Amino acid sequence: MEKRPFIIDCDTGTDDAIAILAALGSDAIRVRALTSVNGNVNENFTSRNNRDLVGYLGADVEVARGAKIPFYPRAGYYDATHGSEGLGDVTLPAAENVPFTKETAPELIRRIAEEEEGRLELLVVGPMTNIAIALSMYPELKEKIRHIWFMGGAALGGNMTPTAEFNIWVDPVAAKLVIASGIPMTMVGLDVTLKAALNREDEQEIRSFGNKGAVLAADILDYMIRRYADGGEDALMHDALAAAAAVCPQCLVCHDYFVDVECQGEYTAGHTMVDRRGRTGKKPNVSVAMELDAMALPQPKVLNFTSVMTWVLGSTLIYIRMMSPHLALPTSPMPSAFSILPTFRGFWKWSMTLSLYNAIVGSSLSNQMGPPARLQFVPHRGHLPQIR
Ligand code: RIB
Ligand code: CA
Repeated sequence: MEKRPFIIDCDTGTDDAIAILAALGSDAIRVRALTSVNGNVNENFTSRNNRDLVGYLGADVEVARGAKIPFYPRAGYYDATHGSEGLGDVTLPAAENVPFTKETAPELIRRIAEEEEGRLELLVVGPMTNIAIALSMYPELKEKIRHIWFMGGAALGGNMTPTAEFNIWVDPVAAKLVIASGIPMTMVGLDVTLKAALNREDEQEIRSFGNKGAVLAADILDYMIRRYADGGEDALMHDALAAAAAVCPQCLVCHDYFVDVECQGEYTAGHTMVDRRGRTGKKPNVSVAMELDAMALPQPKVLNFTSVMTWVLGSTLIYIRMMSPHLALPTSPMPSAFSILPTFRGFWKWSMTLSLYNAIVGSSLSNQMGPPARLQFVPHRGHLPQIR
């Protein structure tokens, strides 16, 4: 099955980096480019983090630089959540050999949209400034972008103010323009990402795979877990869940609602107004994720979020294992994801990864794995995690 072309627009901080790792490892998508935007940290760092991630993994992905300031007059919001340079206390080798494109992020988005002839999808996991600029410079893009999957907003609550989520809060004007564009889109907001925390067991599980991508993901996750222990935000996979939504849409229960963005008000600027009861009478324009769900597995029937993220990262690690010849892979005439599955610990992992592989590549295994069923994800520690 042909891979779906994606651009990931990101303010590469810790959860962005894990989302990038997961996306690079998916069998269903081809990441054409990473475009950086100001958000978690200054764009000088988000662009450098993207470049160094691509260099470290040896990924064939273009890296373009984007907006340094939002349309909305916001300032002074960098905090310690992602460390001073975005990847916590993880330092990657400087990939000086990976050039930034000469094109800016909006120009690159336009070029690749033209090349992909309407197949391009965007995974937007930071403030939407680049996307708004691209749509403003090239209005015809609305017809050439197949779908936008974005991490942002919330039907209920916020993490920057009681009513606004960070990505939308930083640049509510950009978000308003993009959400009103008419491009088909899915909103993966705090309503589901606050249920997506990983813990020390997950970090050790991921680290146990032992290759570059796994150890890097584990190192970032380790920082996030220590951050939480020190009273900071939990190890929430906000952006990775948006990536999972794109490759495993049945992981989420989504409803079509009319959504708009409030750009005024001390406490409301950046609020995503999600019209769940149709009070505005306006036509739904966004598919909003309201619950986490996932495919049924033979066992166990009730999974916590780890399982899904293990799948997402598991597929990443399958891909990276296959790309890392130095790894001692079981001999197999055709090294495929299946041939290295037995290296996972225990049948449970094996079946989990098979079902993710099955979900992502749409193979015929689903009839052997039983019909998808509703699964309730429970926060690891039964609490509402610490948020910004
Ligand atoms: O509110 C969570 C979002 O803000 C995530 O995308 C995180 O990376 C930060 O950008
Ligand atoms: Ca982000």
